[in-house]
Amino acid sequence: MHKERFSGLKILPMIDEDLDAVVDIENVSYVRPWSRKTFVSELNNPISHAFAGKLNIDGKDVLAAYSVSWIVQGEAHLLNLTVHPDFRRMGIARKLLAFNLRFMEEDAVGTVFLEVRRSNDAARILYEEYGFREFYVREKYYGDEDALVMGLELEDPLKSPYSLWRD
Ligand SMILES: CC(C)(COP(=O)(O)OP(=O)(O)OC[C@H]1O[C@@H](n2cnc3c(N)ncnc32)[C@H](O)[C@@H]1OP(=O)(O)O)[C@@H](O)C(=O)NCCC(=O)NCCS
Repeated sequence: MHKERFSGLKILPMIDEDLDAVVDIENVSYVRPWSRKTFVSELNNPISHAFAGKLNIDGKDVLAAYSVSWIVQGEAHLLNLTVHPDFRRMGIARKLLAFNLRFMEEDAVGTVFLEVRRSNDAARILYEEYGFREFYVREKYYGDEDALVMGLELEDPLKSPYSLWRD
């Protein structure tokens, strides 16, 4: 159904050795990037699930994307989903998001939430494609801008037309 403009994306749990590359991508991707300390604390947080997407380029694994989500009692919060600027518009975020949704579903998650800047059209379009809908607005959540809180119900897959992450 979707364009695949790369092959061989491996998605693995994020490890300490990934953090140099993760922090570099984070710093060029956000006005208020997470610090290395934040990522280290996520790696040590039992409710946190951090994944790294790696491409094999010239025989070497290159960190192309990462995600961080929390799962607590059937509810998930997608906190971070980022793709290296050089590898955007290749379908990598789609792959990583689908992987996360499958992972959450297997962990009996009913609802997934996330926050996105109102102006972040790229992310909003991606999330909407996977069935996320705007739940409410957190005004000036980012200081300079509102956050849209988006949500997706995973509970009733048979009624959902948004089964893109299911094989
Ligand atoms: C948002 C982000 C994760 C998308 O990653 P990506 O790998 O480029 O996304 P994909 O290639 O999987 O795109 C999937 C679809 O999302 C939409 N999309 C992605 N980037 C877009 C853009 N810049 N403009 C419009 N639509 C876009 C398109 O519908 C796209 O499908 P198409 O390429 O077939 O048209 C990436 O731009 C990024 O890391 N941005 C900075 C960090 C960020 O904002 N993260 C989200 C925080 S909530």
